[in-house]
Amino acid sequence: MKKALVLMLIALIAVTSVFAQGGSEAAASVVQNKDKPLVFFNRQPSDPVTTEIDMETMNWNDKTYYVGFDAVGGGVVQGQMIVDFLAEADPAAIDRNGDGVIGYVLCIGDVGHNDSKARTQGIRQALGTWAGSTDPGVAQEGSANVGGTTMKVVELDSRAMTGTDGSTWNANAATDAMGNWANQLGDQIDLVISNNDGMAMGCLQASNYPTGVPIFGYDANADALEAIAAGRLTGTVSQNADAQAAATLQTLRNLLDGLTGADVYTKGFTEPDQYGNKITPEVNYEADEKALLAANEAVTIANVQNLLSGARDAGIKQSSAEVKNVLLTIYNSADNFLSSNYLPALNYYAPLMGINLTVVQGDGQNESSCLDRFTNLNSFDAYAINMVKTNSGPDYTSRLQY
Ligand code: BGC
Repeated sequence: MKKALVLMLIALIAVTSVFAQGGSEAAASVVQNKDKPLVFFNRQPSDPVTTEIDMETMNWNDKTYYVGFDAVGGGVVQGQMIVDFLAEADPAAIDRNGDGVIGYVLCIGDVGHNDSKARTQGIRQALGTWAGSTDPGVAQEGSANVGGTTMKVVELDSRAMTGTDGSTWNANAATDAMGNWANQLGDQIDLVISNNDGMAMGCLQASNYPTGVPIFGYDANADALEAIAAGRLTGTVSQNADAQAAATLQTLRNLLDGLTGADVYTKGFTEPDQYGNKITPEVNYEADEKALLAANEAVTIANVQNLLSGARDAGIKQSSAEVKNVLLTIYNSADNFLSSNYLPALNYYAPLMGINLTVVQGDGQNESSCLDRFTNLNSFDAYAINMVKTNSGPDYTSRLQY
């Protein structure tokens, strides 16, 4: 009897120790937040003044990437689109007061955002008004070929377009500014240029918008494309939000599936991934910035019909991928581009790629509006971040430390 009891005890100890081992193995296999995929999108971790990339944030772990588009190239495309338009324009019709000068006003957007800076620079360089700075009001006299005649170009005014609540890229601020410009500058204004469609559409909302004055935006939002087709907006640039949203999710998917090295930015991009999905538009990888970048395309009346259908990418189909939970932040729920263009694309592609998104949207001015809901981090498999300020990377990574 005593022997049986001892044997039972020994057996019990053995079983307990197996359980204990199993338990500790399971604990070790739980991925810590600091080792999970982290993808920044649309607002590249960078210095708001110098635009230098914040490589410390980008090197947070080997699963940290940025997905965006070629910002500098986009500024060049926008500038070229305006120059091409002027080259075909009738000088007598476009120079409204006949003073031989093409006067333009410029909506900048966010002086601390590298997309905004790249566009200001691209426009000023194309028109010869670049004076070495992307700041509001810093421009020199330029010149352009207008229908075969070289004419002077002057930047009459430029403004950041900060809302009364402090938010950037603010369309209402653009409506107000346009109203004032139309009153104060009258027919000196021959062109209106905006670094995004939200502000361009805001300008067109001004009740005294000078009828027929050409106006350019950026983003190819649905309402802007319709305005181009209707002849109200002259041109915009597509930064291919659809491809960027799909690329953000594809990068997360690849990392969640354990891909490493070049597979992270080739599978589903330059070749099909294991589920047979492949994003159709070009998305290029910039190794020095750990960035996947979509291309830009000028959109005018000549090609707007190709984009108006809003068709999604047929290269992405329903997959059998295991469902993973991703926490995604958006800096401002009121941002026209993100809410009307980017987020609908994310919501379309996420279920196809087996990604269950939890979206947190901020107020566009305080990082805390996103950070306060960047919580419950252990329940997510990966994170996708669109920061309020481009230099807030460490505020997010520090939360993932443990
Ligand atoms: C877009 C803007 C948008 C901003 C938000 C830019 O790339 O062109 O319209 O407001 O991103 O970060």
